[in-house]
Amino acid sequence: MPNARLLPGARESLSVLRPSEYTAALIQVIQAEAESVRGASVLEIGSGSGVVLAAVAALGAASVCGIDIEQDAVTSGRLLLHQLGHGRVAEFHHGDLWEPVLGRRFDLIVANLPHFPMASNHVPGRLPSWSAGGPDGRYLLDPFLDGLGRHLEPRGRAIITHNAFVSLDRSRDMVARHGLALRVALTTLVYIPGEKLDCMTGRILEAEDGRSIHRYGPYAFGDVHIVEIGAPGAVD
Ligand SMILES: C[S@@+](CC[C@H](N)C(=O)[O-])C[C@H]1O[C@@H](n2cnc3c(N)ncnc32)[C@H](O)[C@@H]1O
Repeated sequence: MPNARLLPGARESLSVLRPSEYTAALIQVIQAEAESVRGASVLEIGSGSGVVLAAVAALGAASVCGIDIEQDAVTSGRLLLHQLGHGRVAEFHHGDLWEPVLGRRFDLIVANLPHFPMASNHVPGRLPSWSAGGPDGRYLLDPFLDGLGRHLEPRGRAIITHNAFVSLDRSRDMVARHGLALRVALTTLVYIPGEKLDCMTGRILEAEDGRSIHRYGPYAFGDVHIVEIGAPGAVD
């Protein structure tokens, strides 16, 4: 849609919801698995701009469902899917994590949740709900992983972003308790702006500097995994 047709305030809303490099990596893996997306029922928790569900709908998903804690994100996602001609297969809910879809199951669940380890939630240019995952990064990741088993179809899979500086072993153990397996589909580097790195939990930055965090003068990058979770055998 040309900018001239945006409603007042819409440009600012689009700017804070702009997709990140995490989202790009998530879409890359989803596109590589296009075969399994066709005809699938898909859920995204933390749908933000709606662009991941737009990509999934373009690959032929039977239905897409987005959940976000921000009403602006719900409105943006709904509008995007409608503008791209996928309105008929799309539903969006304003709510917290699994709450809007209790009792429902999906073939594919995708998420790029806020899971940056930081005690404060102020990242300039973003909403407070965008990145912050609490001091260990797991404030939303843990309840998300805990709920997966109740919301995946028996042969269903989840594809999520997972910072390498947030323990992957703990996530693997958590999903194993629900009979699920985890594998890394892709590891890539994302740029971490200085003002975001400044907010990072000190003990994690100290431990991960030179391991999963790579600093070159004032510039920093972090390793991020795109992780697949599902029944053992289904994701190997
Ligand atoms: C890193 S953004 C990802 C957005 C989306 N993948 C995109 O690229 O546009 C995380 C999203 O999770 C949402 N969020 C944060 N806390 C949430 C919660 N408790 N329940 C549902 N969504 C939440 C935020 O509003 C934000 O839209």
